Amino acid sequence: MNNRVFTIWCNHDFAGALAPERELLIQDAGNHQLQLFDPKDDGKDGESRQALASVDIAFGYPDAQSVRECENLRWVHLHFAGYTAFDNADLKQTLTKRGTVLTNSSAVYDEPCAQHLLAMIMALARGLRDGLQAAFVVNHDGRYRAYVNNCPHVGTPLDLWPNEFFSEDGRTLICSTHGAVYEPTSGLCTAGPCVGDRLTALPLAVEGETLVVRLPAAAVSPAPARDE
Ligand code: FES
Repeated sequence: MNNRVFTIWCNHDFAGALAPERELLIQDAGNHQLQLFDPKDDGKDGESRQALASVDIAFGYPDAQSVRECENLRWVHLHFAGYTAFDNADLKQTLTKRGTVLTNSSAVYDEPCAQHLLAMIMALARGLRDGLQAAFVVNHDGRYRAYVNNCPHVGTPLDLWPNEFFSEDGRTLICSTHGAVYEPTSGLCTAGPCVGDRLTALPLAVEGETLVVRLPAAAVSPAPARDE
């Protein structure tokens, strides 16, 4: 059984950066006979349809009706997680009856999806989103400084337009609500409605290539949520 040579039909997209994967597939197919088609050649008609009728395995996204009609197919693997075109009882029954296995690529995404979800849960639990909005770091004349993102005037974040903290000439920080102007080096307000007040500076450390800003818990909650 292991020595059997299978014929494999494939219309997976190997364009652009995926070209090396095409070579990998050809190499790993070994003695099995691989027939490669364009993604648009889905086995509905023409040469790709003829080929689909005689192969053992289809890999890619063949036309569902053609899969139903090609009785030699033993295994169809869809290269997407989606399988809407194959999700009907009649087709499934036909494939099951003749022993054709239908699989898709949903399991490929299991781990990254789980990791993403876990990261989101942890970020929400630790207030990371609020923390990122609650403070900002500026690089002025090659030196970094961190401040609580809270204008002493009425307490809104400085950046109504996210991450826009500098004035147009890049020399001062500016609150986009009413235009208070701050010195980037000290956080002192030098013009606008709260002259003489200061932004709250935060301790900032350089750890390797990472800037670490430690936010006091009180700094996380006061900034009003920004409309998104
Ligand atoms: S809230 Fe910043 S200047 Fe008024």
